[in-house]
Amino acid sequence: MLMKRIVEPELMEEEAQSLAYAEADFEQPHSYFIQLFQEKFANYIPDNVLDLGCGTGDITLRFAKAYSDCNIHGIDGSKTMLAYAYKDLANCHQNVIQRVKLIEGILPEISLPLSHYDVIISNSLLHHLHDPFVLWRSLRQYSQPGTKIFIMDLLRPESMEEADKLVKNYAQNEQLILQRDFFNSLCAAFSISEVKEQLLNQNLDYLFLEQISDRHFIIFGEYQ
Ligand SMILES: C[S@@+](CC[C@H](N)C(=O)[O-])C[C@H]1O[C@@H](n2cnc3c(N)ncnc32)[C@H](O)[C@@H]1O
Repeated sequence: MLMKRIVEPELMEEEAQSLAYAEADFEQPHSYFIQLFQEKFANYIPDNVLDLGCGTGDITLRFAKAYSDCNIHGIDGSKTMLAYAYKDLANCHQNVIQRVKLIEGILPEISLPLSHYDVIISNSLLHHLHDPFVLWRSLRQYSQPGTKIFIMDLLRPESMEEADKLVKNYAQNEQLILQRDFFNSLCAAFSISEVKEQLLNQNLDYLFLEQISDRHFIIFGEYQ
């Protein structure tokens, strides 16, 4: 039987945790995130983009660099995570700096600068939310028909032993704090059938849901 979900704190507010996250090498998963977006929405040129739960902004900045005409708003509830995003943004080319806006705020209460976005992306936010409805509500609120949606998140393994194996396989060389967070995140994540049910309950089941590895799934498609 699949282990029960064990939630972790929603916001990543510990200084040491944010620092470890900012220093981690996310080249492989985060460049894969961009590559998959480009594959799923081939030849599409994004304009206004929203990154929900942007954290230290690594994907926000990668997206801004991959699409040199887009404007992107990254929103997160953690001051400490955003502090690293501001730092990295300040080291970017002026063209990127002008197109990226980082916003501190808690979903779903935060009111964002635009009423609708052309693209909404999110990586690893869903498993942090105690109530997953927060993500689906935010999607609805800031989408309009045609908005491109691209979400990636972790899958909950069958057991803590399986979670432990995944940490050993994929994060053995990372700092202990990152290994701890990865383990906790795996235990807090949803299973494919739970995500399917969430999409169905929200009438969002026309979006595509795909398992892409032993620990990740993606959701993508156009908001109707
Ligand atoms: C695992 S991090 C992912 C960060 C980033 N998307 C990435 O892939 O590097 C999850 C982020 O979601 C933020 N978060 C969690 N719940 C939130 C909420 N209700 N409102 C805003 N941000 C939230 C956390 O503070 C954290 O920075």
